Amino acid sequence: MKDLFPEKLIERIVKKTGTPVYIYSSPKILRNLEAYKRSFSALDPLFCYAMKANSNGAVARLLAVNGAGADVVSGGELYRALRAGFDPRAIIFSGVGKTDGEMAAALRAGILFINVESFEELRALERVAAGLKIKAAVSVRINPNVDPHTHKFITTGKIGSKFGVDFKEARELYAFAKASRHLEPAGIHFHLGSQIDSPEPYARALAVVARFILKLRTDGIELKYLDIGGGWGVKEGCDMLPPGILARTVGPLVKSLGLKLILEPGRSLVAAAGALAVTTLYRKKSGPKNYIITDGAMNDLIRPAFYGAKHPVRPLVKRPGKALRFDVAGPVCESGDFLAQNVSLPTPSRGDILLILSAGAYGFSMSSQYNSRPRSAEVLITGKASWKLIRRRETLRDLTSKEI
Ligand code: LLP
Repeated sequence: MKDLFPEKLIERIVKKTGTPVYIYSSPKILRNLEAYKRSFSALDPLFCYAMKANSNGAVARLLAVNGAGADVVSGGELYRALRAGFDPRAIIFSGVGKTDGEMAAALRAGILFINVESFEELRALERVAAGLKIKAAVSVRINPNVDPHTHKFITTGKIGSKFGVDFKEARELYAFAKASRHLEPAGIHFHLGSQIDSPEPYARALAVVARFILKLRTDGIELKYLDIGGGWGVKEGCDMLPPGILARTVGPLVKSLGLKLILEPGRSLVAAAGALAVTTLYRKKSGPKNYIITDGAMNDLIRPAFYGAKHPVRPLVKRPGKALRFDVAGPVCESGDFLAQNVSLPTPSRGDILLILSAGAYGFSMSSQYNSRPRSAEVLITGKASWKLIRRRETLRDLTSKEI
């Protein structure tokens, strides 16, 4: 793999921005998108980037101008997606709890369709569409009861989760939509979970969804779109799994149905393209354990604490000496505040930069100001030696500016 974060460039960036700072590689994001396009070229799908993975405007815009659509899950993400320049006809709105206001904003913007997750939501959407004198294109999110074998917090496609509806209810939703003057059945959707490392759960879900689509045809309901969600995995701390594996499995199943395929990749497009650069503040020991305390913490990157995610740690400068086992922790007053555990590194010097890799997805977007720590800056590497600041570091004033 090419070095996405060359030492000299990172040194220059960090000198200007300070740390912690998120650094993303724009060439790498584009290579990931291209890999998807190449692998799925026979199907010509629409790739709706899941904005929640990394919603920075510059990152979103990069994907928008290169032909991606967007998957949004809130009025805020819709706002960001439109601002970033995504074609409204390539935006879909997912999520289990949309407000009337959010649905109205989506309908006014003229998005492709809304993924509906319950009967009450469908009725609410009908009322909102009627109020706007619009016909709303809807897709029903199916819960196909397939276990993607991933972390329990990011498993969504099993019965008992809050997401989607079962087939029986879905059939009623489609019948209701077909009968309504203000609704139009447009698609069918599932999203099984995140960090899925095999095409097999997609194949199982597709098999049952395909049977259901045929059943809908006998009800006189012809859909245009088949949205198989996101979730394609990124090997712990490394690159995305080759999308060709997924394409080869789902391709034949999708082709036979004759619907336009939609995918909602988030993590796989941006995770490996990003790193969080932090500075070593102190080294210390606690009994048998060695700690590196950095200026980056769980408020900057919560994935290790929340999901037990493992992000590789790369010292920017390799110090001589034998490697020791370290926990890399931040200044936040919680024992769960760590960026990595039990990683093997030569002892860094104070002031040394560490790169927490594979942090381009669900890093900054899940960050907070916990412990009154201003959120970090974000940078986009645009070429071999070029980069730009895409979000300034928050200031102390930013901490209190909204308070009354
Ligand atoms: N579509 C829907 C409806 C989703 O709920 C998600 C993610 C995606 C697409 C994109 O999934 P991806 O391709 O990124 O796996 N914060 C967690 C991940 C939560 C994913 C939530 N939904 C993490 O840091 O691992």
